[in-house]
Amino acid sequence: MARRPGAETDATPALRFPEADGARVPYAVFTSPEVYALEQERIFRGPTWSFLGLEAEIPRPGDFKSTYVGETPVVMTRAEDGTLAAWVNRCAHRGAKVCRLRRGNALNHTCVYHQWNYGAKGNLQGVPFRRGRRDMTGMPPDFDPANHNLRQLRVDSYRGLVFATFSDAAADLPDYIGPAMRPFVDRIFNRPIEYLGCTRQYSSSNWKLYLENVKDPYHASLLHLFHTTFNILRVGMKATAVTDATGLHSTLLVVKNEAENAESYRAQKIRSYQEGLRLEDESVLAMVPEYAEPSTNHIQPIFPQLVIQQIHNTLVARQLIAKAHNQFELVFHFFGYADDTPELRAMRIKQANLVGPAGYISMEDTEATELVQRGVAGAQDAHSVLEMSRAAPDETATLITEGLVRKFWVAYQRLMGFDAPAAAHP
Ligand code: FES
Ligand SMILES: [Fe+2]
Repeated sequence: MARRPGAETDATPALRFPEADGARVPYAVFTSPEVYALEQERIFRGPTWSFLGLEAEIPRPGDFKSTYVGETPVVMTRAEDGTLAAWVNRCAHRGAKVCRLRRGNALNHTCVYHQWNYGAKGNLQGVPFRRGRRDMTGMPPDFDPANHNLRQLRVDSYRGLVFATFSDAAADLPDYIGPAMRPFVDRIFNRPIEYLGCTRQYSSSNWKLYLENVKDPYHASLLHLFHTTFNILRVGMKATAVTDATGLHSTLLVVKNEAENAESYRAQKIRSYQEGLRLEDESVLAMVPEYAEPSTNHIQPIFPQLVIQQIHNTLVARQLIAKAHNQFELVFHFFGYADDTPELRAMRIKQANLVGPAGYISMEDTEATELVQRGVAGAQDAHSVLEMSRAAPDETATLITEGLVRKFWVAYQRLMGFDAPAAAHP
């Protein structure tokens, strides 16, 4: 691993990204515990907004959900007055995890260790034996509970998606999502939703490999045989692949073109099309059109913890939670619209089989990220090669591109403070 000139004495690992456009990524970025530790500081405790969950998960006063911002345990709550709050789940006394449930409803939270008690917004409201007992002294007279609240985060929601940040420097949430990405968020979150439930899975790989995956339409028609076999996604389909101005967020939209057939796959001998295979129950691939902008696939990572997804009629807010340099958790939060008919609701739930840990389509994605993690073990000085569509960096109507991934890595270097080389790609 190369170090920045003059950086030998600090603890910052400086990775070498030899190409200014992000076309070479040092594998150490996936294997280094030091990089992972620095990401906690510069990304998850830095000027980003991390997705915590959906407002629909905590609709009533007192509802709460335990989750994470990076590796820090955080609880999101709806307070008595209906406002949202988020606090670090670490007792202000001696650090114990206060809330031990994944979800629930409570207007106050008591740490089991010495029973310090906190309100829904994390304010300390009770300390046992604070004033001592008979001839036993208690806390010093100047002990003020107001100085010992749980650490609160800035919290905001955009169209029912709840985010939090540790940073006062982060832009307001709508500006953080940005004008290029908001219309796509609005497309899916265009009316009240209903939470349907979630699946969870763990991947023994680096969390950024999953972000690469959802910014990479190139793999979709090749890795996922279900896609091509049943004509869900092929490279000839109409596509939009765009990033925001920072390069951190992106959107991929695919519109199915019925004229696209198996010919091009057969012609190129791509291992994917199997003649004569058909589904016993084709309703898993039915599609009720429900958006002004038609699309069979909408995949939208909002850095660092959210991926919005619509595939046919299945709707998901995927939550990406980094656990270690070589492990992440992926939670698929399924939802529908509050005004869904029972038939449409049933269809969404059936189509949940397309994604999640054992999804017909998305099962392979975390396998692919694990294959990379295993393959790059010990690769101290090696880089990945991101050349697809490199000569046309502004091309957006394509599925054969690694442009979103390259732009992400440029943005990542900036956020992390890694030096980018001065020379741009010719
Ligand atoms: S650690 Fe929570 S009350 Fe002591
Ligand atoms: Fe995929």
